[in-house]
Amino acid sequence: MQVSHFKSAGRLITGQGATASLKDELLRLNIRKPFVVTDPGVYQSGALEHILCQLDKDVAVYKDIPPEPEIEVIENCLAEFNANAFDGIIAVGGGSAIDSAKVLAVAASQQGEIASLFGTDQVKGRHIPLIAIPTTAGTGSEVTNIAILSDPAEQLKKGIVSDYLLPDVAIVSPEMTLSCPKSVTAASGIDALVHAIESYLSVHANAVTDALAIKAMQLIYPALPKAYARGDNIQAREHMATGSLLAGLAFGNAGVGAVHALAYPLGGRYHLSHGLSNAVMLPHVLQWNLMASRERFTDIAAAIGLPSHGRSQQDIGQSLVDAITTLCREVEIPARLREFSIQENDIPLLAKEASKVTRLLNNNPRALSESDIERIYRAAY
Ligand SMILES: NC(=O)c1ccc[n+]([C@@H]2O[C@H](COP(=O)([O-])OP(=O)(O)OC[C@H]3O[C@@H](n4cnc5c(N)ncnc54)[C@H](O)[C@@H]3O)[C@@H](O)[C@H]2O)c1
Ligand SMILES: [Fe+2]
Repeated sequence: MQVSHFKSAGRLITGQGATASLKDELLRLNIRKPFVVTDPGVYQSGALEHILCQLDKDVAVYKDIPPEPEIEVIENCLAEFNANAFDGIIAVGGGSAIDSAKVLAVAASQQGEIASLFGTDQVKGRHIPLIAIPTTAGTGSEVTNIAILSDPAEQLKKGIVSDYLLPDVAIVSPEMTLSCPKSVTAASGIDALVHAIESYLSVHANAVTDALAIKAMQLIYPALPKAYARGDNIQAREHMATGSLLAGLAFGNAGVGAVHALAYPLGGRYHLSHGLSNAVMLPHVLQWNLMASRERFTDIAAAIGLPSHGRSQQDIGQSLVDAITTLCREVEIPARLREFSIQENDIPLLAKEASKVTRLLNNNPRALSESDIERIYRAAY
């Protein structure tokens, strides 16, 4: 048994109405002049009201974070942050706003170019306190030590990995997600499910992450179609919000695998959203992984209530792949890469780029060569 260190945000506040704790948390962290980081969609949705009603009327709100943000966005945000004596950051949004706020918090705490932070453990420290409040369910970014930015020059998505990115507080409250559009509910919901599945299949899974991943799947699998069918179903939204949080805690410690590795170039080169690119690859990578991890596929099938009596592990595993494929169709995730006008000629290039994402491929239960990856993209085409 290996020694594992469990990483999380400093404090987790969850459940309906959890946002009402914000004021107390600001006091506890000694934040007198907060800087709110959000995006235009969340700003217009009304979800932000749950937060703004607890802050001074003249609180600074930076609302220009776009989906899948680039480094330049953080530079603009940093210039506004530095122009005043702000003493804390409140991130309100999906993974894009939360990741941006995480990078802002560390960039504001040290000298140097933001680009120098890419990679693992390049961040020197953070003295600006950070509160993360997700509005999607979701990326789990509120509890992970990762932030992902797009690099338009290299047409790649790049990660910053550092424990200084872990927020001081995560407030996960389902009412923040009620206004989430259907397409975002679907794509970010499948992303959360992928986090749970990939961390359960990861070669770095342990007893703690397993427990979190299984509970996450039990919450997300039945709740996602309900939240998609009716966005105002608060119980489904609550199960999704909690499931996404648990999945974030699981993958933040066990890692994700080949689904994410193969999704990265689709985001970098074709600008598919993170959730969509994962969702379209999920059934194909699961099919690839089945032979390497039949017992764990059987565990997942049992967790989400698929019948197992009298069936072989291979059959149960296959029924899991089929059930996940059906779920993706139910929430209207396009089935094929060609539906995103991706060129078939680009597949070798995509495979080359995905094969470089060794940070994630190394977690995967089945090894993948560049030609294996090409084969999976072709199956998904
Ligand atoms: N740090 C991590 O651990 C981690 C993990 C996975 C993904 N990510 C990153 O997160 C980003 C994706 O985040 P996401 O899937 O949460 O989507 P997002 O933050 O990009 O938001 C997508 C869209 O949904 C809108 N939206 C979000 N919540 C809403 C709400 N409640 N009401 C109305 N509109 C709402 C936004 O305005 C935006 O237009 C990507 O950049 C991805 O790389 C980070
Ligand atoms: Fe993800």
